Amino acid sequence: KNEISIGLLGFGTVGSGVAKIIQQHQDDLQHKLGAQVAIRKVLVRDAGKDRFSDLDPNVFTTDIEEILNDSSLDIIVEVMGGMEGAKSAMEQALKSGKQVVTANKDVMAEYGHELLKLADDEKCDLFYEASVAGGIPIIRTLEDGLASDRISSMMGIVNGTTNFILTKMKQEKKSYEDALAEATRLGFAEADPTADVGGLDAARKMVILSSLAFSTEVNLGDVHIRGMETIKDGDVEMGDKLGYTMKMVGSSTKDEDGIDVSVEPIFLANTHPLAAVNNEFNAVYIYGDAVGETMLYGPGAGSLPTATSVVSDIIAACRNLLLGVNGKRKHSAQYARLIKPAEK
Ligand code: NDP
Ligand code: HSE
Repeated sequence: KNEISIGLLGFGTVGSGVAKIIQQHQDDLQHKLGAQVAIRKVLVRDAGKDRFSDLDPNVFTTDIEEILNDSSLDIIVEVMGGMEGAKSAMEQALKSGKQVVTANKDVMAEYGHELLKLADDEKCDLFYEASVAGGIPIIRTLEDGLASDRISSMMGIVNGTTNFILTKMKQEKKSYEDALAEATRLGFAEADPTADVGGLDAARKMVILSSLAFSTEVNLGDVHIRGMETIKDGDVEMGDKLGYTMKMVGSSTKDEDGIDVSVEPIFLANTHPLAAVNNEFNAVYIYGDAVGETMLYGPGAGSLPTATSVVSDIIAACRNLLLGVNGKRKHSAQYARLIKPAEK
């Protein structure tokens, strides 16, 4: 096979970044894969919009079935967002034997186990690196890099929008509203930012990370969530005067009583490494029995950083296809089905 054909569902902040990286890094991709990677179809809501893209205008369509029923496509990349439509598109793609890559934490937090099982049954792969912490390879780190360790807890800033808002409020004395508007303009916030500011987006990411780290099924309903609305006027300023920084922090701990997952705004001493994580950047602190403490840090949102993870997943999906081992890999989250979930 000398070409891998891609159907891209969505051409917004992330999708346009994916197209840019595939175009600009085409020589490297060909060198790494021995095959050309080509975006052959792109789903959008409005096909008439000016897309500032080098893609052939004929690849754009508003008809999702035209993409999902195209047997010449090898990989479906879901970067349109939303819940049910995105989930059913991924199901349809997997059922027709296609590799799937997604950046969708809403779907992965809610239906990840179900979709990974479907991928397994259909002998396809489902990759979702960009669903947590944008450009940080945290999923691969938990699945592979730290597979040998026993993780006891994680603590992280996993939402770029709220971190951007809190940074701007502290460092530039911006109002919450102005900082949120800027995060939206820069493409960090979700189409509807309610889940960002309310803590649900971070909770979904902590569910995905906890399922991987502890090889068990963690449900969103079990996460204790407090959003930015619980921050009172003057809190950020008062903390600053006392040497503390307000951050939205996700934490996940496993002990003999079970697993506790929470997301809430808390004050961190300015000397804490997470207090220095600013703007849309994310960081995840991991505590393992053997490794001790390790922290991953990088851009948590934005077009090219997130697209980096998506395109790396595309490369992984291509490699499996070209080697003929698609669907053979078991993801650590899938082992959740083999062990007894920790009891509260
Ligand atoms: P955008 O809103 O910027 O883009 C969404 C794209 O999908 C648009 O091109 C839109 O078309 C298209 N689209 C959406 N719904 C439909 C539909 N029903 N039918 C046809 N086309 C549709 O979203 P993002 O790129 O920001 O996010 C995409 C996904 O990536 C989400 O799941 C998000 O949570 C996730 N993500 C986003 C990050 C970020 O930094 N933005 C980081 C990590 C993950 P049109 O252009 O015509 O409006
Ligand atoms: N809205 C998300 C954030 C995008 O701000 O973190 C990255 O998942």
